[in-house]
Amino acid sequence: MTQATARAHPNIAFIKYWGNSDDALRLPVNPSISMNLDGLFTETTVTWDETLKQDTLRLNGMDTTGQALERVANHMSRIRKRLNIETFAHIDSANNFPTGTGIASSAAAFAALTVAAFAAADVNLTEKELSTIARIGSGSASRSVPSGFVEWYFAKTHEESYAKSIVPPDYWDLVDVIAIVSEQHKKTGSEAGHPTAKTSDLQIARIMNAYERCENIRLAILNHDFPTFAEIVEEDSNLMHAVMMTSKPPLFYWKPTTLTIMELVREWREEGLSVCYTLDAGPNVHCICERKDAETVRERLSELSGILDIKVAGVGGPAHIINKR
Ligand code: PMV
Repeated sequence: MTQATARAHPNIAFIKYWGNSDDALRLPVNPSISMNLDGLFTETTVTWDETLKQDTLRLNGMDTTGQALERVANHMSRIRKRLNIETFAHIDSANNFPTGTGIASSAAAFAALTVAAFAAADVNLTEKELSTIARIGSGSASRSVPSGFVEWYFAKTHEESYAKSIVPPDYWDLVDVIAIVSEQHKKTGSEAGHPTAKTSDLQIARIMNAYERCENIRLAILNHDFPTFAEIVEEDSNLMHAVMMTSKPPLFYWKPTTLTIMELVREWREEGLSVCYTLDAGPNVHCICERKDAETVRERLSELSGILDIKVAGVGGPAHIINKR
């Protein structure tokens, strides 16, 4: 039996991934850019075991079967194929943040699983290849493999659709102050949502300008230009949600509190605070701030009603091994 434990952070996208050109391979229709979220993580231990007849999964301390096991076992089969082995594994995975609420738990989960599985098999892959393989488990997991501020390239082939670091975590001291508005599991998660993107008349418009937004966000990050960064981040989030709301069937993730916070964040920025909002496929609001204003934003959010919890995360490092036997 060989075992390894890996830790990976979730990430928050500034330019969103929504819709695939190939659903099975999870090749996205546009490039995306994100930052990893320090302090929040998934820790996954993979133990290859010659005596097992199938993979087993423990999720947050509970033995798990059904859809979750199926998705993980499918990913393990891809890894087995790459390793040229037939052995099954015990997978033990836990998050220190709530799952299914708009903090991308699947990104951290499939990044940690991929990195742990190869390390447990004593096989060293490049970061690029680990990112491509994590991507097939969950698209945004490709961005949780590299460190800091990360870009996932648009490409038509499996080999070239990977994510790479733009700059390390300490390049710009941004903070994500996350207002948790609901802890319920989403009705339609991103996996079921992506295939609906093409049914919106707005998707083509969103994709067409995604390249330009990526270029401009990359420059804003490199120049520490918060005002430009904020406008593009909010526009990109609004565009993705406009696509979601006009898909067939439509997807509405916002709750009344979500909209209240979005409006307040824009007001706070007009008052001079360096803060902007972005939302993934869920009602929680990620308030991206410069460090100097993060505590003020956290305090102001804590005075509002309808917020269940507030998480604060700086810029996180790469997926990495924390234990190996
Ligand atoms: O990787 P997935 O299938 O969970 O998709 C993530 C989709 C969004 O979180 C809404 C956007 C993104 O780029 O992270």
